[in-house]
Amino acid sequence: MDVLITPVGVADVDSVIELARQVWQQTYPEIISQEQIDYMLAQRYSRERLLAELGMPDIWWDQAMVDGHLTGFSSCMTVAGGSEMKLDKLYVDPQRQRSGIGGRLIEEVERHAHGAGCRALILAVNKRNERAIAAYRRHGFVVRDSVCVDIGHGFLMDDFIMSKSLPAAAAPR
Ligand SMILES: CC(C)(COP(=O)(O)OP(=O)(O)OC[C@H]1O[C@@H](n2cnc3c(N)ncnc32)[C@H](O)[C@@H]1OP(=O)(O)O)[C@@H](O)C(=O)NCCC(=O)NCCS
Repeated sequence: MDVLITPVGVADVDSVIELARQVWQQTYPEIISQEQIDYMLAQRYSRERLLAELGMPDIWWDQAMVDGHLTGFSSCMTVAGGSEMKLDKLYVDPQRQRSGIGGRLIEEVERHAHGAGCRALILAVNKRNERAIAAYRRHGFVVRDSVCVDIGHGFLMDDFIMSKSLPAAAAPR
């Protein structure tokens, strides 16, 4: 299976939103309510928001293509004054999960982190999202913290914060 990782472009935005809906509906009904899924999708995956983020210098959106089809995507952004890279989104087509695509997208996020001079990757994952937690552990993340964040409209995000240290860039000779 040839996996091609490329930056998400303006023309890809609608497909990314569609894939996000599919993966969320496959993943989250057993974890959060349908009302919260709809609220969070509307908040995070509006066309306007994605287009705005594509134009921001400290946010990176990438997609995984298999045989010309979108099979996954990620986004990341620098946080903590630029010292850390937050893996903000990581979603893979349910038909293609567990075949290394998530890992390839994480590698690309690590490349962005190195380029931006970050010392660690961090992410937030729902405490009940056991498959994703297993995937993050498999790719070198450890649980660093536990948080419960009020995201409005009576909804909470009950998350683990996971992190992965990155090797320091080689010193110039
Ligand atoms: C989490 C996710 C992005 C990982 O992507 P992926 O392409 O499946 O991951 P990889 O193939 O690189 O890594 C596979 C590892 O993840 C874990 N994993 C993934 N799916 C799993 C499942 N259904 N059951 C158990 N472990 C699973 C395992 O540790 C697996 O390693 P193994 O196959 O050697 O045992 C993907 O499963 C996904 O999109 N899940 C739904 C959306 C989601 O929860 N995203 C994270 C939001 S914070």
